Amino acid sequence: MAIYLHIPFCESKCIYCDFASFCNAENEKVRYLKSLNAEIDNSPYKGREIDTIYIGGGTPSCVKEEYIEELLSTLRKNFVFSNNIEISMECNPNSVNLEKLKKYRSLGLNRISFGVQSLHDALLKKIGRLHNGEIALQAIKMAQRAGFENINADLLIGLPNSTIEGIIDDAGKLIQAGITHISAYMLQVEEGAKLYALVKSGKIFLPTDDESVAQYEALVSFLEKKGFIRYEISNFAKGQHECRHNLKYWSGAEYLGFGLGAHSYVEGVRKANARTFEGYYKGEIFMEKLTPKESIEEMIMLGLRCRLGFSKAKLFKHGYKIENNINFKTYLSKGILTENGDRVHLNPSYYGTSNYIIANLLP
Ligand SMILES: C[S@@+](CC[C@H](N)C(=O)[O-])C[C@H]1O[C@@H](n2cnc3c(N)ncnc32)[C@H](O)[C@@H]1O
Ligand code: SF4
Repeated sequence: MAIYLHIPFCESKCIYCDFASFCNAENEKVRYLKSLNAEIDNSPYKGREIDTIYIGGGTPSCVKEEYIEELLSTLRKNFVFSNNIEISMECNPNSVNLEKLKKYRSLGLNRISFGVQSLHDALLKKIGRLHNGEIALQAIKMAQRAGFENINADLLIGLPNSTIEGIIDDAGKLIQAGITHISAYMLQVEEGAKLYALVKSGKIFLPTDDESVAQYEALVSFLEKKGFIRYEISNFAKGQHECRHNLKYWSGAEYLGFGLGAHSYVEGVRKANARTFEGYYKGEIFMEKLTPKESIEEMIMLGLRCRLGFSKAKLFKHGYKIENNINFKTYLSKGILTENGDRVHLNPSYYGTSNYIIANLLP
């Protein structure tokens, strides 16, 4: 089973971000830790074996190391950690130092994910980041010195004033610094983020969709030349460094989420915790049981966006015989989809148009 822990604190709010994260919430940190520990202690799934943990946010690296230590020890007390457990944590480059990273390593963390976004200083400033390019590269090198072999950098595609050359330059420098994984996300303009109003009022101009797609495609071919395998639309790994935790989400495996806004998926039921401190402390949750049609849609969608694909037999069990779908046959004959026994995969060259293809395969 997989576990997600949410740390909803940040040192400042980036203009594009609509995640459940708060700055100026220093006085919530103690109470939140207590509630998070209690939520883990009261889990009805205690005793299960855990093989991946993802500590995300927010910015988990902006709380003290002891905070993370306590959470991991509560998890160890309640769950069985498998021998080769993957423990990842999201960090902002400006909130780590060598000592902190060494401590994380000693706590059993073995995968670090840095929110780099870009290495261009003017651009980073514009989107409200607290680090510059050099600090991001230094953080990666420090993580290596602290003993991390599995290091991710998040990059954003389609940022204001971004260019193909700029993104390729960033990726090259990150690879040289020693990262083993890149998550490259297309910038989403979320209604709840500052960026939304700035774009609407014409104060910020973003690249067009075509320009963003061109940036993505150029990045894909650059990364592939450098030996990074695209195993999901936005995720690229060198060697064995795929994120096992994310692969679990995409394969429809069960996971438990603890903390404000965290989601769980167990026994076909999805549960989301409240996104506010007040709601979370009160224990407000939102439950959702997927209908067979929704489960089918999710299996196709998640499966085709990553290298895992989907299982025809599993779809059939939920009442959908995909072989009867006319587009399915066409896509197979054109090599857009490929079959490997029971599993169906999307040819990675079509990842860019996956939304359209997926829509044509739904029941
Ligand atoms: C939950 S954030 C946490 C990472 C960490 N706090 C940081 O920013 O360095 C994970 C990643 O989501 C991505 N992200 C956040 N908002 C986004 C948006 N509006 N569109 C696309 N990606 C976004 C960023 O690349 C970010 O690094
Ligand atoms: S992108 Fe990361 S640092 Fe910025 S506000 Fe969101 S969670 Fe916090």
